[in-house]
Amino acid sequence: MRATLSLSLAALGLVGSATAYPHAYQDTEAVLSTASSQASTSQEKADAVKEAFQHAWDGYVKYAFPHDELHPVSNGYGDSRNGWGASAVDALSTAIIMGNTDAVNTILEHIAKIDYSQTSDQVSLFETTIRYLAGMLSGYDLLTGPASSLVKDSDLIDTLLTQSKNLADVLKFAFDTPSGVPYNGINITSQGNDGSSTNGLAVTGTLVLEWTRLSDLTGDQEYAELSQKAESYLLNPKPASNEPFPGLVGSHISIDNGEFTDASVTWNGGDDSFYEYLIKMYVYDPKRFKTYKDRWVLAAESTQKHLAAHPSSRPELTFLSSYNNGNYDLSSQHLTCFDGGSFILGGTVLDRQDFIDFGLELVHGCEATYNSTLTGIGPDSWGWDPSKVPSDQKAFYQKAGFYINSGYYVLRPEVIESFYYAYRVTGDSTYQDWIWNAFVSINATCRTDSGFAAVTNVNAANGGSKDDNQESFLFAEVMKYSYLAHAEDAEWQVQAGDKNTFVFNTEAHPMRVKHT
Ligand SMILES: *[C@@H]1O[C@H](CO)[C@@H](O)[C@H](O)[C@H]1NC(C)=O
Ligand SMILES: *[C@@H]1O[C@H](CO)[C@@H](O)[C@H](O)[C@H]1NC(C)=O
Ligand SMILES: *[C@@H]1O[C@H](CO)[C@@H](O)[C@H](O)[C@H]1NC(C)=O
Repeated sequence: MRATLSLSLAALGLVGSATAYPHAYQDTEAVLSTASSQASTSQEKADAVKEAFQHAWDGYVKYAFPHDELHPVSNGYGDSRNGWGASAVDALSTAIIMGNTDAVNTILEHIAKIDYSQTSDQVSLFETTIRYLAGMLSGYDLLTGPASSLVKDSDLIDTLLTQSKNLADVLKFAFDTPSGVPYNGINITSQGNDGSSTNGLAVTGTLVLEWTRLSDLTGDQEYAELSQKAESYLLNPKPASNEPFPGLVGSHISIDNGEFTDASVTWNGGDDSFYEYLIKMYVYDPKRFKTYKDRWVLAAESTQKHLAAHPSSRPELTFLSSYNNGNYDLSSQHLTCFDGGSFILGGTVLDRQDFIDFGLELVHGCEATYNSTLTGIGPDSWGWDPSKVPSDQKAFYQKAGFYINSGYYVLRPEVIESFYYAYRVTGDSTYQDWIWNAFVSINATCRTDSGFAAVTNVNAANGGSKDDNQESFLFAEVMKYSYLAHAEDAEWQVQAGDKNTFVFNTEAHPMRVKHT
């Protein structure tokens, strides 16, 4: 999951200091070595991830289902995603891939009962698309394709597509604006909106895969046309001044006329998955989405040229900076770490070794954020501006190459996700080991009696304190990528070269590509 700026927790983030806990810290090396002595083969590791998924699923079913998410410390629940059972829908494609028939059947029966026309809260077009719509479409693609032996009741499978259409029909009025650029915050009861004059780059540009897939499956072109009309302004950005480097564009688009209203460039949250989907649309259908690929190539080349940055204290590391009006911002985010995977995917699909190599550099930078902390988990955001190093992190900056801006870990997947692309495309087991290390560290630090909790400080003993929330993307993404890295080859796995038969949406829901 990308793009949300729901970093309110993170904004409060405690900052870690390597010297503050000289004795009482969890011994990451010991945790890693114990786990590796218990699970040494890929099969044993894949099974260990299944065990973690089952643990979280059981806790969710016991204390939170059919609400959106478990509160894993208090054993309560939350409904942050309109109360339609976000964790269940988000868990579907992972449960299918793991062959977890019980969970799959529970989720399918739940989905058949959801009334997407009812909610008391504002709806996010973006979040609803990437979690619910994509979760159902992916379930449909998997259960009518390579996982067709898992479920006998074909009515339940067909319901996934019917409910996808029902949901899109509830949401589609969001695109009814003067330009066709949608509102992201909508009221489905009043057909109202949040009154914004602009929409964000990522939330506008991370709809097109799901809405196009829905049209291709139903034969009704309306959904594809709505999302592609909105995307057309992103592919032909105006005015020229808001595309400061070829392919790299501003962060906000006028809902009135589709023009960019700023020239602030970044791969961080808020813009991120716009870039991600440019190349994924080409993977989805190279015939129809060649222009998207051309825009991604421009953006990728400009990124290498203008945004790549190396911390003064560890110049061998590569991070991506942001740019606005002549100024560079030397900070990055866990969210941004999808970037390595995007370069590796684009590089392998387009046969561009330079993109793969740069993607691996980014992957190594993100690994350093995990490798340098007491828990073995990376922070939510960090910086490397030598003039801004906090006084209590001078030694940490020297050693690690960055300082921590927010020490939260909210169960995000992006680092593991890019390790996964690196492993699948290079075949180098180092990346598989990094996924295992990250998974073991998350299991050791975040696990509660009923699931997995966000933690407040990855550079403190045991993650500082636990934050009482388990985002649905734990099921959709962290568990899926951790599992796939150790599972046997399958049609849904990412492949090297241009032969992928599935493409993962930004929430890790695999969609069947068009030409198969
Ligand atoms: C995950 O944590 C549980 C509970 O502490 C433990 O039993 C299990 O072995 C751990 N899994 C791994 C792979 O470390
Ligand atoms: C949505 O609109 C309805 C009907 O006007 C109103 O009662 C409700 O409070 C609105 N919901 C939100 C979250 O603003
Ligand atoms: C960090 O990397 C080093 C060198 O590859 C490795 O030995 C160590 O186990 C890693 N530590 C963590 C916490 O991942």
